Amino acid sequence: MCGIVGYIGKREAYPILIKGLKRLEYRGYDSAGVALINKRDDLNVYKTKGKVADLENFCSDKDITGTVGIAHTRWATHGEPSSVNAHPHYSESKNLAIIHNGIIENYAQIKKNLINKGMHFRSDTDTEVLVQLIEYIQVTRKVPLLSAVQMALRQVIGAYAIALLDKREPNQIIAARKASPLVIGIGKDSGEFFLGSDASPIIEYTDQVVYLDDENIAVMRPGEPLKVVDIHNIALNPDVQTIDMNLGQIEKGGFPHFMLKEIFEQPECLKNCMRGRVVSRTVETRAMTDGKKEGPMQSHTEMGVVLSSIVDHRQQILNAHRIIIVACGTSWHAGLIGKQMLETYCRIPVDVEYASEFRYRNPVVTKDDVVIAISQSGETADTLAAIKLAKEKGAFIYGICNAIGSSIARATDTGTYIHVGPEIGVASTKAFTGQVTVLCLLALAVGKEKGTVSDKDYQEITTQLWDIPEKMKEVLKLNNKIADLSRTFTYARNFLYLGRGYSYPVALEGALKLKEISYIHAEGYPAAEMKHGPIALIDSDMPVVVIAPHDAMYEKVLSNIQEIKARDGRVIALVTKGDETISKIADEVIELPKTLECLEPLLATIPLQLLAYHVAVCKGKNVDQPRNLAKSVTVE
Ligand code: M6R
Repeated sequence: MCGIVGYIGKREAYPILIKGLKRLEYRGYDSAGVALINKRDDLNVYKTKGKVADLENFCSDKDITGTVGIAHTRWATHGEPSSVNAHPHYSESKNLAIIHNGIIENYAQIKKNLINKGMHFRSDTDTEVLVQLIEYIQVTRKVPLLSAVQMALRQVIGAYAIALLDKREPNQIIAARKASPLVIGIGKDSGEFFLGSDASPIIEYTDQVVYLDDENIAVMRPGEPLKVVDIHNIALNPDVQTIDMNLGQIEKGGFPHFMLKEIFEQPECLKNCMRGRVVSRTVETRAMTDGKKEGPMQSHTEMGVVLSSIVDHRQQILNAHRIIIVACGTSWHAGLIGKQMLETYCRIPVDVEYASEFRYRNPVVTKDDVVIAISQSGETADTLAAIKLAKEKGAFIYGICNAIGSSIARATDTGTYIHVGPEIGVASTKAFTGQVTVLCLLALAVGKEKGTVSDKDYQEITTQLWDIPEKMKEVLKLNNKIADLSRTFTYARNFLYLGRGYSYPVALEGALKLKEISYIHAEGYPAAEMKHGPIALIDSDMPVVVIAPHDAMYEKVLSNIQEIKARDGRVIALVTKGDETISKIADEVIELPKTLECLEPLLATIPLQLLAYHVAVCKGKNVDQPRNLAKSVTVE
């Protein structure tokens, strides 16, 4: 998730671009850059690692004149955060410069073809591949920029929002999008145009905007009406809308808090997380007609998981005698779910350790162990220290991080990014479901290679995992119901969260969410452990959230609910849609779509995030920045 801003008109572009970048910095902040065309038609690109303030410093002695420009703040996906990988990217001849948000999935193949044709690359990014492809088409086919962009975009697979400058056509910005947002602001009398990943860099100047649709390309030339065509050159009528939102609302995508926005982003985040990793292929088989004769060809689709980390480090990972997961907080809860998946489908014993405990005892770690470090920020001091300790003891280190190029990502031997975009709310939400998804992909990929997961399970889990984003959308429709429910429980002083099997870590995560943002004491417990102590707490003032999907543990959890009801407890039950038994005894019921047992946490966590969020809002708490907490804990 990166930030894009652009300007073309009569004003100096640089101050508008910098201001816009600052407003978009919440989308990514590992590097930033700007491209400007000055009066002599020079195309100047300046970029640097770091924040927008670093870019300003970097540009302080440069030629920043020009009334046409594009700028970018980056959240790395391909290639570590560095000045070279920062956007804009020049084409080979430096006639073109591009900025991009999204992922070009087939960039490796395109890059290989272009290298074979003699082109050279400066960065590791997929974005540079796109600008090189556009230039290659422009030069070899002798077509104008717009046609080259259309031909190039017809070749690429993936997501993009791009803006492009060509110094030979200096009075023009070309922008296009597919699956990544892009908004165009129309200045007075079309004399000037603004561009943004969202409207936040635009609303100061105009309230007239056009939201580009997928595969649409906009051509902005000052003094001319906005031209919109699609990638097949069909002319389209731009739908100009008037926006009525303030800045804060826009950065938060219209949501009142980043936390709620991030909860709602989860279906999209999981798609990004699985993109290029969950693949389908058509398998052709010939049917036998009477047991002997060959019949007609038949085809069916098979799903599979591809993780480059497994391909590159096969030996170390497949030969692991033991896996040790180290993490903190929410990431540790994801690790508990990962343990169950890895043990079930890979038959490797897994220990899950609090990084802060692991680092201070002298744990038994050998060179046959694989240590999986899970961290959203990639900067958690305890997790980093745990990695260093395990490394010294010879273990192979696998990272599961969100922040690209973070300290933990760099300290590991290999790993998988969760690709859910920047998480701003202190309470981790989309990172948790991203981490669980990657752990599931890892368990499937390793299990398949080791032959410890059956073909049936492998196919079924991969297919159902792919369907999770759609099911998450169903769960998110419960938002209003959960908001109503929350009002009833705002004044509770304690909460208990119970679950078994895969639902136990969900209970822990639900309790943590409530604690950290509403300041209500909450405990997560394995449901069966209740009778060994916590049952003494239960009375009519104690709300008990029970995660009770229809899985192998169902009957057992049902008994636990009955035990609570017998003591006057108030039960909020999360059940599988269509459950008639628990619905009759629980006080409140939240229905979840059916999925496989190992994937239930991906759905069940969402209502608990929403419950914590709405309770905290009802109590008037600062949801995005709860007291005493920091987004990344870089101290011991
Ligand atoms: O960035 P990390 O995943 O390493 O952070 C770990 C914890 O600090 C973090 O999950 C924390 O518990 C969250 N505030 C939970 O919402």
